[in-house]
Amino acid sequence: MTSASKIKSIGGEQELVAPLHYGVTNSGRSSLRWALASLELAGKMILLPDFLCEIITDVLQEHQIKTIPYAVNKDFSFSFSKEVVEASDAIYLIRYFGMNTTALCRAICDAQKPLIIDDVFGIEPPVIETQQPWCYFNSLRKISPIADYSQLISNQPLVSIQLGFLPEFSQAKYQAKSLKADCLLHGKGEEQAYLALFNQGELLLNATKTIFLPSAKSSVLVNEFYRQASLECELRLQNLATAKSILPVELYADAPIDFPSFLPILLPQRDKVRHGLTAHQIFLAVHWPEVEGMPNSLSDSILSLPLDSRYSSEDIAFVCHRILELMDEM
Ligand SMILES: Cc1ncc(COP(=O)(O)O)c(C=O)c1O
Repeated sequence: MTSASKIKSIGGEQELVAPLHYGVTNSGRSSLRWALASLELAGKMILLPDFLCEIITDVLQEHQIKTIPYAVNKDFSFSFSKEVVEASDAIYLIRYFGMNTTALCRAICDAQKPLIIDDVFGIEPPVIETQQPWCYFNSLRKISPIADYSQLISNQPLVSIQLGFLPEFSQAKYQAKSLKADCLLHGKGEEQAYLALFNQGELLLNATKTIFLPSAKSSVLVNEFYRQASLECELRLQNLATAKSILPVELYADAPIDFPSFLPILLPQRDKVRHGLTAHQIFLAVHWPEVEGMPNSLSDSILSLPLDSRYSSEDIAFVCHRILELMDEM
């Protein structure tokens, strides 16, 4: 009798097919450290984009990793020659602002070397169809109210390591978030108090090189975040559509996206616009300033427009119109 003709077995523990390997940590950098160890990249050569966050170069240096930079264009496209791929042991890919650009999809699909896929502003991996070893990570602390949480996913077993705890970091962050809510929603307390605590938390994280687990609070709150993710995504997509309907197309990057967090806007007079916006209580981040020794095409002109559900379409329209007005005044 074939198994197909057998009576279906009912009961017992639930079966699961989960062919990948999974880790959770408190931050993107913890996940990156774990990925580098798992892919055995210490002391090796990595192909690295020239547009990136400084934390990445710091972590690579900790592991004595040498790098070959590759150029990222203003539209986030990039390519690399066969020679540089051959000279490297792995390729570092950033999924810029969560976008599934043609360049990213092609680089994953055509990979000839192990991949690190850094999705700092995303919530789940893109399609990854390659036989090469790969590690994907995100950093939910950057795009949600969760203070310390990052997922690491790989097609390779993750090395077994002793993960640390950094409760002071998540405590400072959650306290700061609560003070910020009091201040913004109820007019209680001072801005300086929560800004100092946020900063204190980041300093604690920056001071260590350990791979940390997320806090219990974040491990529970993350369920809430994913439960609400499709609604959150809908609101973010509406905000994105609003921004795109107001800003001229040459001012922003456009590519398919599953879960937007920021719209990268490219402004020739970025610093003046950014400064002008502060007069309207609008404080937009620069992701990312140039890393020393890594000139690139984007750092001088980029500005991030947040799209999350704290903001309505009207808020987004307000910011976009202010940007256009400030540009007109220049
Ligand atoms: C592209 C990128 N990768 C990795 C990281 C590290 O993430 P975390 O600050 O959560 O360690 C950052 C931080 O901003 C980043 O921008």
